[in-house]
Amino acid sequence: MKAKNCLIFGGSGQIGRNLIRKLTKNNYRVTVVTRNIHQKSYIIKTQANVGYIDIAEANIFDENKIRELFKKADICINLIGILFEKKSGDFKIIHTDLPDLLSQIAKKNKIQKFIHLSSLGIENALDSDYAKSKLEGEKKIKNNFEKFVILKPSIVYSVDDKFTTRFMTLLSRLPIMPLYYNGNTKFNPIHVSDLVDIILNTVENKNNNLVVECIGPEILTFKEIIEKILISIQKKRFLIPVPIQIASLTAKLLQLLPNPLLTEDQLKLLKYDNVSTGLYKTNFDFGFNTKKNFDEEINKYSYNWKIGGQFAIKDNIKK
Ligand SMILES: NC(=O)c1ccc[n+]([C@@H]2O[C@H](COP(=O)([O-])OP(=O)(O)OC[C@H]3O[C@@H](n4cnc5c(N)ncnc54)[C@H](OP(=O)(O)O)[C@@H]3O)[C@@H](O)[C@H]2O)c1
Repeated sequence: MKAKNCLIFGGSGQIGRNLIRKLTKNNYRVTVVTRNIHQKSYIIKTQANVGYIDIAEANIFDENKIRELFKKADICINLIGILFEKKSGDFKIIHTDLPDLLSQIAKKNKIQKFIHLSSLGIENALDSDYAKSKLEGEKKIKNNFEKFVILKPSIVYSVDDKFTTRFMTLLSRLPIMPLYYNGNTKFNPIHVSDLVDIILNTVENKNNNLVVECIGPEILTFKEIIEKILISIQKKRFLIPVPIQIASLTAKLLQLLPNPLLTEDQLKLLKYDNVSTGLYKTNFDFGFNTKKNFDEEINKYSYNWKIGGQFAIKDNIKK
């Protein structure tokens, strides 16, 4: 029988919002768990038609409430993740302890599948607390519940991301752009619509006990990504390689901000390529040939950052 009820943790984020639309259009009912229904419900509620979506407010460690929510679930999807710690130990709580708890409850409730979003290219980055906590979370899930699928995306981009849009803003405002590690770190960016297609497919098929690296069709270095964004927003900027000592110092200062652009841990992570590792199958091995091209996709929304907006003159590069 087709699984109908999807319990989603972290559904108010970039991937979650796109996933709710995809699942509900395909006749799945979703229950989205958020920490703050007053702040997030307008974002979540508007992603689906009435009748297809429920919103539950819960502290992620309120075990009783979460156990209750699992009673109606056929499938659970965990999208909760953070990029920086507000206090030491947050990575472990969010990326290790939470998936540990959810996969235990999933097992107890004999649900059909536990889908967890981890990250690509973390296996070698063991000097990063982010990477260690995500890897540890994967291990816990594998030990707890055999009906798991762990998806490991590279950078996920779209008009509602915190990556390309953030760089479009920064590049519009700053005269120079620092390049860490000479901008040589490689990425395999995947468009959010391709990723949610992969998640929908995971929900629909019976495969379990699986780890899949989710990648787009192109490998791009950080410098190439920045150059493509600059072309797309019609700006010229100096790209300046920054020695690692200066980068570390900058990260030390920036991470004091409430929503830092760069932290020391992210700087460590940037040392490692974010591309398919060869350790697991990728979406291409399952016939999911992601085709969305980075230039074409960012051009669809970069006009927000161009002088003249959507009526900007083509090839009009401004300093
Ligand atoms: N986006 C990417 O480029 C990318 C790349 C690789 C891996 N991933 C992984 O994919 C998953 C989803 O990514 P995303 O970009 O959609 O995530 P996101 O937008 O950054 O966050 C997802 C949701 O997590 C919840 N959350 C955030 N901090 C929390 C905290 N301290 N305690 C409890 N809940 C918290 C929030 O939901 P509420 O505020 O509603 O509670 C938030 O909307 C994450 O695990 C991420 O690590 C993403």
